[in-house]
Amino acid sequence: MNVTVIGAGTMGNGIAHVFAQSGHAVTLVDLDQARLDAALATIDKNLGRQVAKEKLTAEQQEATLARVALKTDLAEGVAEADLVVEAATEDATLKAKIFEQIDDAAPPAAILASNTSSISITQIAGATRRPEQVIGMHFFNPVPVMKLVEVVRGLATSDATYETVRRLSEDLGKVPVEVNDAAGFVSNRVLMPMINEAVFCVHEGVATAEAVDTVMKLGMAHPMGPLTLADFIGLDVCLAILEVLHRELGEDKYRPCPLLRKMVAAGYLGRKSGKGFYDYA
Ligand code: CAA
Repeated sequence: MNVTVIGAGTMGNGIAHVFAQSGHAVTLVDLDQARLDAALATIDKNLGRQVAKEKLTAEQQEATLARVALKTDLAEGVAEADLVVEAATEDATLKAKIFEQIDDAAPPAAILASNTSSISITQIAGATRRPEQVIGMHFFNPVPVMKLVEVVRGLATSDATYETVRRLSEDLGKVPVEVNDAAGFVSNRVLMPMINEAVFCVHEGVATAEAVDTVMKLGMAHPMGPLTLADFIGLDVCLAILEVLHRELGEDKYRPCPLLRKMVAAGYLGRKSGKGFYDYA
């Protein structure tokens, strides 16, 4: 299958990685050539980990990389696509614009998926003339490791589109879970209030970030404490998702903690900026 991934950030490069690894021809599209080059280097590095763990051979690493093409022009990048997976910034206006462009340039039969973590699939589908072929394909970071794909059905998503994406996700070695379109789907509706509550604990002086994380790691067997996880996801991403939950579901329980807002305003975005609840210098 020809798969085009839009956006060469953390999620985009991970998604390109898993499709290429399972034999698909992948085109990775980003406006910025430097980001594309960095994404390819990241894919190479992460394939290297799998080789070091003897889960992949050096030949498979090379063949996987060779299946990834890079493009800065979106229309060119989707022209031959059977499936497009959009993984751009979490911004509803931007996504609508991107989907309009994809809809204009992709073959009529192509399925258009979004990796959005909180924006309505029905709304994204509304920007296209093929809403029955639009679906959510929500992957988790690090994509090569995490088994879940939350497959999100918009109001108009057809059974045929759902079935194709479900099967495709299984072929990638993932476990697809069917979810209907609602703010945050299941993953972030459950995860983000937990992260937000952890931030409130620090904000109100209940405990330090280290203490909160240790409680959840050792008491609840979470692989990472919620604040380490928030730094890993990006505090700006967490805030954006909480704002969608708060606005769409209209309940105070989703109100983002003032400390989270302050940290994002200060540019403390977590791992990617070198500082969040922890220092990564
Ligand atoms: N690519 C390939 N392999 C990778 C990798 C990557 N990017 N990152 C880690 N790995 C591999 C390692 O090589 C290692 O492999 P083995 O099991 O074969 O040894 C394995 O993954 C575990 O990695 P490490 O030993 O380095 O570290 P760890 O045991 O601490 O695990 C972790 C790291 C997998 C990230 C683990 O801490 C974890 O599961 N954390 C929670 C992650 C999580 O919750 N992600 C979801 C975030 S939410 C989201 O993404 C969506 C959203 O909408 C916000």
